Amino acid sequence: MSKATIAVLPGDGVGPEVTACALDVLAVVEERYRHSFTFHEGLVGLDAIRAEGTAISDSTFETCAHSDAVLFGAVGSLPAGQARADGPRPEQALFRLRKELGLFANLRPVHPFEPLYGASSLKPEHLKGTDMIFVRELSAGLYYGRLESVPGKPSEIRRTAARTEAVDTLLYTEEEIERVVRAAFEIAEARASRLTSVDKANVLSSSVLWREVVERVAADHPSVAWEHMLVDTCAMRLVRTPADFDVIVTENLFGDILTDEAAMLTGSIGMLPSASLGSRRTASGMFGLYEPVHGSAPDIAGRDMANPVGAVLSAALLLRHSLGLDQEAAAVEAAVEHVVRDGCRTVDIAEAGHAAVGTREMGRRIVDRLRRT
Ligand code: NAI
Ligand code: MG
Repeated sequence: MSKATIAVLPGDGVGPEVTACALDVLAVVEERYRHSFTFHEGLVGLDAIRAEGTAISDSTFETCAHSDAVLFGAVGSLPAGQARADGPRPEQALFRLRKELGLFANLRPVHPFEPLYGASSLKPEHLKGTDMIFVRELSAGLYYGRLESVPGKPSEIRRTAARTEAVDTLLYTEEEIERVVRAAFEIAEARASRLTSVDKANVLSSSVLWREVVERVAADHPSVAWEHMLVDTCAMRLVRTPADFDVIVTENLFGDILTDEAAMLTGSIGMLPSASLGSRRTASGMFGLYEPVHGSAPDIAGRDMANPVGAVLSAALLLRHSLGLDQEAAAVEAAVEHVVRDGCRTVDIAEAGHAAVGTREMGRRIVDRLRRT
């Protein structure tokens, strides 16, 4: 039996609707496999700003920091006209959690289900066998010059009488590369033991260093078959032979772009889960934050229309990575796949003319299936 404490932050829009399904699934896992999970629910985003004046209060943050994992829904944004430049913004909750909890590795599995091949923009024969996971560096690189004005990391537009120019800084320390690359090799060892490291080493110094670190870390993981790949080649191979990939590790910007490209293989953004991991260990895994890839979807919020699969699969990642419960995670994933194979569809993945079920019904079917496995 495992004991675990899980912080639950449903957030805004469809966040609470899809998180409720993920919690139902975790409750069944707890009961069927005789584990003991303690859930602490907290406010984030718009509700937290209304009730507590901040996107995430210190006490909610501390609850997360002392848990084994955080299950996150989504945060929205303030309606136009209500956002003050110096006022609290919902997304600050996520930035604070990622930064202060040291969550540097963002995992996004991309596993198109065969019955949904028709929902993808690729021909089915190209999707067959596709099952990959991205490990994207989440806390450094090009995006972080903009967030902090660190000397030596400029990110600005400079206008002078002579000319106008703009600069961003792509800076990685060896340590920032090594920790995410190590995480990726460990994940590869637990999967098919194939890893692709993506960079632009023919042009960028940061990528030359990236390669050096990958080669050094690879020596500690002799069972993993690995390769370097240039990012432009990777972009092409993702839509040509996606089944060739297993684990892909890459820096922040490349990972941002390539994961959006890869999302299209699965048919809907509502299908995709994610895990953000750091270096803190739990009793049997890594501390992490788990959330569907989608946002608060205000256009469908409160209408029982959201696809809960991304949130449910995020709960499966929580079981696997933070609690070390591989068998339970696989059972949840199998239940989702089974329900989809049975023809159960929310509106985002339903083919034209076919009936769709609501969020709650989709969740109920997954729970029923899981109970019977
Ligand atoms: P979004 O992901 O919320 O929605 C994009 C489109 O996908 C919409 O048409 C929506 O209806 C659909 N969609 C999203 N989730 C779905 C689901 N589970 N099932 C079926 N359809 C789904 O992105 P958008 O519209 O750009 O942003 C809305 C709000 O969410 C913004 O305030 C944004 O800042 C926030 N956001 C929050 C994120 C987070 O909490 N991690 C991530 C992305 C956006
Ligand atoms: Mg993106």
